Amino acid sequence: MENLLQQLNETTAFIKTKCSLQPLIGIVLGSGLGNFVNEMTVECEIDYSELPHFPVSTVKGHSGKLIFGKIDAKNVVVMAGRFHYYEGCTPQQIIYPIRVMKMLGVQTLLISNAAGGVSTNFKVGDMMIITDHISLFTINPLLGKNEDALGTRFPDMSEPYSKAIISKAKSIAKDLGYEVKEGVYCGVTGPTFETRAEYRLIKAIGGDAVGMSTVQEVIAAVHTGMKVFAMSIITDLGIREEDNVITHEEVLAAANEAEPKMTAIFKELASVL
Ligand code: HPA
Repeated sequence: MENLLQQLNETTAFIKTKCSLQPLIGIVLGSGLGNFVNEMTVECEIDYSELPHFPVSTVKGHSGKLIFGKIDAKNVVVMAGRFHYYEGCTPQQIIYPIRVMKMLGVQTLLISNAAGGVSTNFKVGDMMIITDHISLFTINPLLGKNEDALGTRFPDMSEPYSKAIISKAKSIAKDLGYEVKEGVYCGVTGPTFETRAEYRLIKAIGGDAVGMSTVQEVIAAVHTGMKVFAMSIITDLGIREEDNVITHEEVLAAANEAEPKMTAIFKELASVL
């Protein structure tokens, strides 16, 4: 097998034949940012299926492409469609696009997702800035041979989410008149939502919200020296009561409702970074 750096170089070289824009900011469009692209001046789009060595997304409602363009004057690259472990992607496939972003020059990564609320402070539709995460229930994507050119063998994780960006995001939200919560995101593999006992466990170990994405992307980004900001839409409240069950439809509906606010915050944030 070709080595990782060679593959990354091939993907990056291919992208550069299609698009000359040099992005400094990367954005992973998870739930809540589905219409974000409408806020951009798009320069070019490349389907994941065209990209050498890229995995292909299988989740309904997630298109799979890289979109290059500008938010105000800022050059950005957007991942429309991300990869999840529950789809059968390996952790290395999940983070491959993040590493491609790094090779393209991205310094800051902005991420959104949908998450189940575990903290009793949360209600459905809340936005939560992720201040820290628990990745221990997922597979660490850096297992295996370390690529020293990308980052160190034992990355520091004392501030995976940039405090400086968090404070900018809070002041943007305040100016826009939106309430934002803060909390710890606990990553799980899915695809099952959690049992009642599992929600209790996550709460007991310090999780405020739980979701099936993000932590591996963040680990890869931090490994390779990027600054990271991430935000969740709280789409359900775990299984708090005997008769409360969670459906994918309910999660999508809550995410859609918070979408305009989330989009506004990310747009402003990209323009001040
Ligand atoms: N658990 C895990 N992932 C999720 C949830 C949840 O309750 N809600 C949205 N994504």
